[in-house]
Amino acid sequence: MAGRLTGRTAVVTGGSAGIGQEIARRLASEGADIAVADINPADETRELVAETGRRFFSDKVDISDEDAIHGFAARVRSEFAAADVLVNNAGVVPMADIDHVTFDEWRRTFAVNVDGAFLTSKAFLPDLKESGSGRIINITSSSYWAPPPPFVSYISAKGALNGFTSVLAANLAAHHITVNGVAASLVRTATAVANTSEFFFEQTVHIQNIKRVQMPADVSGVVAFLASDDAAFITGQIIAADGGSTRR
Ligand SMILES: NC(=O)c1ccc[n+]([C@@H]2O[C@H](COP(=O)([O-])OP(=O)(O)OC[C@H]3O[C@@H](n4cnc5c(N)ncnc54)[C@H](O)[C@@H]3O)[C@@H](O)[C@H]2O)c1
Repeated sequence: MAGRLTGRTAVVTGGSAGIGQEIARRLASEGADIAVADINPADETRELVAETGRRFFSDKVDISDEDAIHGFAARVRSEFAAADVLVNNAGVVPMADIDHVTFDEWRRTFAVNVDGAFLTSKAFLPDLKESGSGRIINITSSSYWAPPPPFVSYISAKGALNGFTSVLAANLAAHHITVNGVAASLVRTATAVANTSEFFFEQTVHIQNIKRVQMPADVSGVVAFLASDDAAFITGQIIAADGGSTRR
């Protein structure tokens, strides 16, 4: 499928590590130039994109900071053509049930996972409108439909992101922009390993139809499809790429 995204510019938030890094690599391998916004340096992602021969730009940006994300959008615009694809991937995953979650933690979770997607989408809206085939792809979680109790702020935030996906699709269809979400199960990233346990991975595999741990590439392929012309008539959907762990 090499070349499906040739000539496109893709923005990936949280592209320095984990799922976002693999999404950046995959979109580049299909022909897109890549811009990453992350609070951490993206040197490793830069190398992965360089191997594909595509162009790469990154900035240290907190996506919950409105001025910072608008500055980033302006720099991406001057480096590349207008962005065609926006992947709202950056997120934080605090683990606390209702007895232990603090209001500060709740607000921080919403600031990154929800406000960040809102602000980044607003900042790149002029580019996506100009594109003629704009794509917004939000990375969400199938845990929204089968919530493990200790993720109160996280699952609430992903629910808000799902709602944002749905209403944004209705807002932007007239501009030929599609908006979809990809809901992952438990994906083996360094953050997921640090925040959970091998037992949690085993339990998750147990409830999936597909009996193996989900990897970042299981998400990036779906993102590449949604970014491509093959998905031009799909919008407002949350695609469960979760090994069949949830049935809706
Ligand atoms: N790993 C999983 O099991 C899993 C499952 C379902 C959904 N997800 C979602 O996938 C996305 C990526 O998860 P991951 O496991 O790869 O996490 P990760 O921690 O490996 O990567 C997240 C990236 O986002 C960046 N980031 C965090 N806060 C930021 C901010 N304010 N501004 C800019 N960048 C910021 C981090 O520096 C990091 O590079 C998240 O939205 C997460 O909720 C993950």
